[in-house]
Amino acid sequence: MSTSFTDSYNKDFILNTMMGPNAMRITEEMANFLPIYPGMRVLDLGCGMGISSILLAEKYNMTVFAADLWISPSENAKRFANLGLDSKIFPLSVDATKEIPFAHEYFDMIISVDSYQYFGGNEVMLPKLMPFIKKGGFIAVAVPGFTQDFPEGQLPEEVQPYWTPEWYFYSCGWWRALWEKEPCVAITVLREMNSCKQAWDDWLQSSNPYAQRDIAMMEAGAGKYFNIIQMIGQKV
Ligand SMILES: C[S@@+](CC[C@H](N)C(=O)[O-])C[C@H]1O[C@@H](n2cnc3c(N)ncnc32)[C@H](O)[C@@H]1O
Repeated sequence: MSTSFTDSYNKDFILNTMMGPNAMRITEEMANFLPIYPGMRVLDLGCGMGISSILLAEKYNMTVFAADLWISPSENAKRFANLGLDSKIFPLSVDATKEIPFAHEYFDMIISVDSYQYFGGNEVMLPKLMPFIKKGGFIAVAVPGFTQDFPEGQLPEEVQPYWTPEWYFYSCGWWRALWEKEPCVAITVLREMNSCKQAWDDWLQSSNPYAQRDIAMMEAGAGKYFNIIQMIGQKV
């Protein structure tokens, strides 16, 4: 069995740069569903510390615009330069809820891993982003979610003590209904990802205080209601 790029990558580096379930692993699975070619120009929106961008640049030789709100581009620039990737990954500060600072029809693809839930769970974001993608290009999103919809106030007891509204966890059906409202996008894939458990297990090994906090939640059994939802749409 061949080892994945993620499994052969420097484990300490990934553990120190993860900000949630292992985004490099998730991106590597998602890439199997995308038409990928060297030199593709990609916007990695909500890249955090950039492990998804690193995978796209290193494994697939893409040109990546690594945009994030919470992590400074100066910090990311140092990280990318230390890896020799400064001519392939361009870090910048972007708040997706504000003006998007790019030319229209500029990107072959917009990718967003474990971040779209913070700004994209509404009817505004998808139509706002589509003009920046070339005709026939793709938007590829992976978000943590729930395996089903839970009526308000009826979360499973394993989840209740830990849940906050800032999770923005929804089901596949919830996301599908939202994306189907946007006529400029044809959904090509919307599925639960196979790497969910491994991506969460990787995260729990991180010394990040949020990861350490999540250990009790997963030990309580909340994880059986979690999935990672992959949504890919093509601009029509
Ligand atoms: C849980 S972290 C995940 C980061 C990275 N994708 C990863 O998986 O390691 C969520 C990311 O979403 C980004 N984010 C949240 N709101 C955003 C917004 N309005 N515009 C751009 N990025 C945003 C944050 O800056 C943060 O880095």
